[in-house]
Amino acid sequence: MKRIFIIALAALAFAACTHKTTSSKSKEENTMQTEKETSKTEKQQVQLNDSTHKELKVLLINGSPRKEGNTYLALMEVSKQLEKNGIATELLQIGTQPMHGCTACNHCRKTGHCVFDDDLCNRAIDLMTECDAIIVGSPTYYGQPNGTLLSLVQRMCYAAPQVMQNKPAAAVAVCRRGGASAVYQTLLMPFQMLNMPIVTSQYWNIVYGRDEGEAALDAEGLQTMRTMADNMAWMLKKIHNGTPDYPQREAEHKVTNFIK
Ligand SMILES: Cc1cc2nc3c(=O)[nH]c(=O)nc-3n(C[C@H](O)[C@H](O)[C@H](O)COP(=O)(O)O)c2cc1C
Repeated sequence: MKRIFIIALAALAFAACTHKTTSSKSKEENTMQTEKETSKTEKQQVQLNDSTHKELKVLLINGSPRKEGNTYLALMEVSKQLEKNGIATELLQIGTQPMHGCTACNHCRKTGHCVFDDDLCNRAIDLMTECDAIIVGSPTYYGQPNGTLLSLVQRMCYAAPQVMQNKPAAAVAVCRRGGASAVYQTLLMPFQMLNMPIVTSQYWNIVYGRDEGEAALDAEGLQTMRTMADNMAWMLKKIHNGTPDYPQREAEHKVTNFIK
């Protein structure tokens, strides 16, 4: 009898212990589950907040014939930072193919596309139609932007001002030693007359380097790129937080010169 009583007591103690372990385990599991769910909800909330912004995309144009040279490196630094901010990028390489200059034929004023269809211009205009902002980068050539890039930017702006307007823009200049600030200013000139907000940084958007890859050593230049990307993302999110609320402009765009 005594033995039966001891066995029963032991069984009871074991059951209580097992129950305790199971219940504390399931409590732990529940806590983990709740934590998981909370973080899931938080994630959904972040996504929800993000979904108030449409999918935003920035067109990057590498104006160097060197496909993966210093301008490319600078633009990739921008691209990585934009992507950290949830902004997509599309890279267009100017490459080594010939580029027409504007012939002032005015064909584009009727069609929104350049009369020359055998270079990158019309493709760039189409990409710009899909994108919400533009960043152009150029090496410094004799204190000037690469001529092919400059010609592309001029023709895009002349052919499709409606596509460009209101979209934030930035320029990046790369040089070995000098002339980059002239490149930077020159590249911004067309954007500055198309109602495009210019995105700046902690310094002019200039990166230093000569041989391919040297730009990776310019810590300040690369930080300037990242800051510009953060500023670009900030501006885009402000603009697209809901339906963009662009300023009302006068219906008639006056074009006068000193003769008439
Ligand atoms: C034709 C030519 C002209 C150049 N002129 C300048 C110049 O005026 N100032 C300067 O600092 N670097 C000048 N450079 C050097 C480039 O700007 C530099 O190597 C830059 O990193 C090239 O960029 P990328 O690697 O993206 O092509 C010139 C290079 C070439 C090929």
